[in-house]
This record gives sequence, structure tokens and C-alpha cells, in this order.
Amino acid sequence: LSGGPLQGRRVLVTSGPTHEPIDPVRYIANRSSGAQGTAIAQALAALGADVVFVTGPATVPPPGGVEVIRVETAQEMLAAVEGALPVDAAVFAAAVADWRVTSESDRKMKKTEGGLPLLEFAENPDILATVSRMAEGRPALVVGFAAETHDVVDLATAKRARKGCDWIVANDVSHATGIMGGAENAVTLITKEGADSWPRMGKDQVARQLAERIAQALA
Ligand code: C5P
Repeated sequence: LSGGPLQGRRVLVTSGPTHEPIDPVRYIANRSSGAQGTAIAQALAALGADVVFVTGPATVPPPGGVEVIRVETAQEMLAAVEGALPVDAAVFAAAVADWRVTSESDRKMKKTEGGLPLLEFAENPDILATVSRMAEGRPALVVGFAAETHDVVDLATAKRARKGCDWIVANDVSHATGIMGGAENAVTLITKEGADSWPRMGKDQVARQLAERIAQALA
């Protein structure tokens, strides 16, 4: 097998949730399955890209034919991403926890000790914004995601500007859509040219269409 429009291109994909520990047995997490990020990594590899797949503890297995780097926390994910650079394009599909617990206990917290726990938080690094704003070695194409429950296009357009990325793939994750953890996605691609809404389709199909667009952009 030879060729593919992304032959010789190195592409990074982040995927899955992050887990932020509270104590040795507990953590804060979110409902991301890693399905969309996994499908994107697979679609990019199918077009010939060398894919580095940085994944949190996802519920779906990573695709074959990619370099897999497993992480748990947002801070570990940032370190893995920085270690994987330089790349031609980076797709940030991970659902990174916004906050980590700074009051993490190295012993299991016991309900018999000292009443109810009080957790303290700090803001996690924004991996997408950090890479988008790199002065040197920024990927030629940086793609972020926006999971919103309302005003999807307006919020995602503002997010593109705020983060400094090139594209935002926006999706409506309001409960009724069944998208988070489901097999389908309805996305709007936000670029500097504007917003392009794709019909609802399987996450695999979204991934293939996005990989094609990435190949065109890098060509
Ligand atoms: O700000 P928000 O979490 O909605 O932004 C979502 C986008 O930013 C996704 O592409 C996600 O992977 C990325 N992100 C990140 N690091 C964070 C938070 C979000 O890379 N700490």
C-alpha cells in the first residue's frame, strides 16, 4: 500500500477524558468516550499520516496503526503533546478537565475522619490554546473542538478567536442529542471563512470528512 494524501505528514490527535485525582482511589472525570478522537486518528492514518495519539482514559480502545501515548491528567497530556511536537497538524479532540484538585490526598480519604471533605481546585493548562499560541514550531493547522449545549455557532466562533486555533469543530452536546457517548455527531466546522454545518452522521464519517479537509489544507 502506498500513497495517501497525508503520506509523510505527522499529525497529533488528543482524545478521551482526563482524570484528575482526589485521592489514591478517587478522581474527577467527564463523560467523554474518546470515540470521536479515535475515529479521527484512524481516518488520518488511513490517508497515510503518521499519527501520534495522546489519549486520556477513554472507554473505546485506541486505533491500530498509530503511536499511542496514554496519559491520565491534563498536565500529563500537555507534557505528552509538547513532547510529540513538531507536527504538521494537531487535532485536539480530548475533553480535558477544566480543573484539577490541588488538595489531592496521598492517603484514601475516610468518611470517619473530620466530617465532609472540602476539595480545592486550580485551573488546568489549556493545551489547545498553548499550542495555538506557540511563537515557534506551531503546527501549520491547529483544530479544536467545542462541545456546547446552546448558541453553538456563536460560542464556537468566539472560542476559535479566544484560543487562537485555525478551525473549531463545534458540536451540540445537549442531553437530547445523545451525541456525548453516542455513535453519531452533528458538527459545524468553523474556519476563518465562516461556519459550515454538516448533516448528522456517524462519528466515523465525521472523522473521514475532517481528515479529507485536513489533507486539502496541508496540500
Ligand atoms: O474551552 P473548552 O474546553 O470548551 O475548549 C474545547 C477545546 O479545547 C477542545 O479542542 C479541547 O480539546 C481543548 N482543550 C484543551 N485543554 C484544556 C481545555 C480544552 O486542549 N485544558
